[in-house]
Amino acid sequence: MEIQTDYLVIGSGIAGLTFALEASKSGTVAIVTKKEMMEASTNYAQGGISSVFDLDDSFELHIKDTLDSGAGLCNEEVVRMVVKDGPARIRDLISMGVNFSRQAEDSDELDLGMEGGHSKRRIVHTKDRTGHEVERTLLQKVAENDNITIYEDHMAIDLLIQSKLVKRGIVTSETRETCWGAYVLDVEESRVITFVSRVTVLSTGGVGKIYLYTSNPDIASGDGVAMGYRAGVKVANMEFIQFHPTCLYHPLAKNFLISEAVRGEGGILLDRKGDRFMERYHPLKDLAFRDIVARSIDLELKKSGDDCVYLDISHRDADYIRDRFPHIYENCLTYQIDITKEPIPVVPAAHYMCGGLLTDKNGMTDISNLYAIGEVACTGLHGANRLASNSLLEALVYARRAVERSGLDLDNNREIQLKKAPLWDSGSATDSEEMVVVSHNWDEIRSLMWNYVGIVRTNKRLKRAKARIENIQAEIKEYYWDFIVSRDLLELRNLALVAELIITSASLRKESRGLHYNLDYPDHDNKHWKRDTVISI
Ligand code: FAD
Ligand code: SIN
Repeated sequence: MEIQTDYLVIGSGIAGLTFALEASKSGTVAIVTKKEMMEASTNYAQGGISSVFDLDDSFELHIKDTLDSGAGLCNEEVVRMVVKDGPARIRDLISMGVNFSRQAEDSDELDLGMEGGHSKRRIVHTKDRTGHEVERTLLQKVAENDNITIYEDHMAIDLLIQSKLVKRGIVTSETRETCWGAYVLDVEESRVITFVSRVTVLSTGGVGKIYLYTSNPDIASGDGVAMGYRAGVKVANMEFIQFHPTCLYHPLAKNFLISEAVRGEGGILLDRKGDRFMERYHPLKDLAFRDIVARSIDLELKKSGDDCVYLDISHRDADYIRDRFPHIYENCLTYQIDITKEPIPVVPAAHYMCGGLLTDKNGMTDISNLYAIGEVACTGLHGANRLASNSLLEALVYARRAVERSGLDLDNNREIQLKKAPLWDSGSATDSEEMVVVSHNWDEIRSLMWNYVGIVRTNKRLKRAKARIENIQAEIKEYYWDFIVSRDLLELRNLALVAELIITSASLRKESRGLHYNLDYPDHDNKHWKRDTVISI
């Protein structure tokens, strides 16, 4: 089966939906999303979106905080552009109906939150469920839009690229690699559909599920990075995986974040004895940059042998806590933790991918007609460590810029007869009866990444990780061609490839910087490593 569309958007988080809504003004849009449309990291975002609104704040301060957090690797031009575009993009959301928290019920003034690494209050939020409010509003707008069709339970497998068509004799060679859509698995019907498009957008989010412990939802398996890399897009800075310092530690809790905003509003980190420890690590104490707080907790836990540390906000007024953090309050209560009365047990967990598919200032990759926006992209904004709440901001700014730039591609391609693409050929593949192999490999990758490529790395651990991932890759390769593709198998294949990219990038960088900390090279090496780690197929 083949479906033709002007724009193919892969992913229904903030980046994909924002792009789709704007692009629908100039063409037809198909959004494919691998589970239910709400299932995206965006839906779970708590803290908010950073942007300059306070009279006491300035673009220069936001730029400085972002550059300081990025530890020398941000692209300053990009940082300036994103920060300056921020207020307009927030106003776009407000005009679409996003209900951000105000200073008072009848006030127009936004209530601005505080988070680690920010020198001013600048986090625009909807209490502690910002992402849910944004996702809900964008999906509502998509539902009202006749030019957009959304396909749930449709998982992109691989991009349809020119060189593959040339190889099969379908088109003649063009000098630059070009993307014409993607092969997509219709999960319910177990069939592969060829989506043929004039512009294709990867907005598939991050890769948290590659680690045993993560704040991310299950969709975060690095599919976009894997698809882009296989098609020939350059990948950058994959060693910079951000670990959020405070995820709920409870045997029954899966992936529940305790927002940095809790520390922003006075929450303090304590050890088991009830003593503060962050003042020993950084002058900004509990509000130091995320890489520093996560590493400090990791060190405290290694020294003490404890399972977790504690985050305490119970000294603040109980009504205030319930009003400001209703979601965190309710969720902790289901585990019999009353955050108005007692500290919350927390541990660091994998949270955000600072690297990704390398793009320019318009979200363009080095393949024609192919864009990457949101967490899947490496734009130069975050450098070696993302500043809190700069991710949703980046997605908004780049979605808008990518629409403007891809409009030109659409115009150039409008007259082109869309390629008659080959249908998916499953050859002699059969249904797998060995799903245990897939789940075993998933578990092994997640454990090895946590143990060997986590918050603190060494050369020896990275070498071990590389050897293990090579074996798993070989097994998956064999398995992949023998059996009919399923969502689990596709995710495993992508996860293994992205694990390899992280390990390779971490092994290349012979220094410590931002989120990459290697005990064998504990210092910055500005002479050799004040640059991105770029790899391609
Ligand atoms: P996502 O929102 O993750 O969307 C990705 C989409 O792609 C999903 O719909 C997914 O199903 C789909 N997809 C993936 N692979 C495929 C495939 N192969 N085929 C089809 N569809 C596919 N950032 C902030 O700035 N502020 C915050 O307060 C904040 N809080 C956070 C809290 C949590 C718990 C988490 C996990 C993250 C938080 N972040 C925050 C980070 C931020 O939410 C994400 O970086 C951002 O939402 C990413 O948006 P996105 O559109 O790029 O991807
Ligand atoms: C949080 O609420 O702590 C998450 C913020 C972020 O990831 O930027």
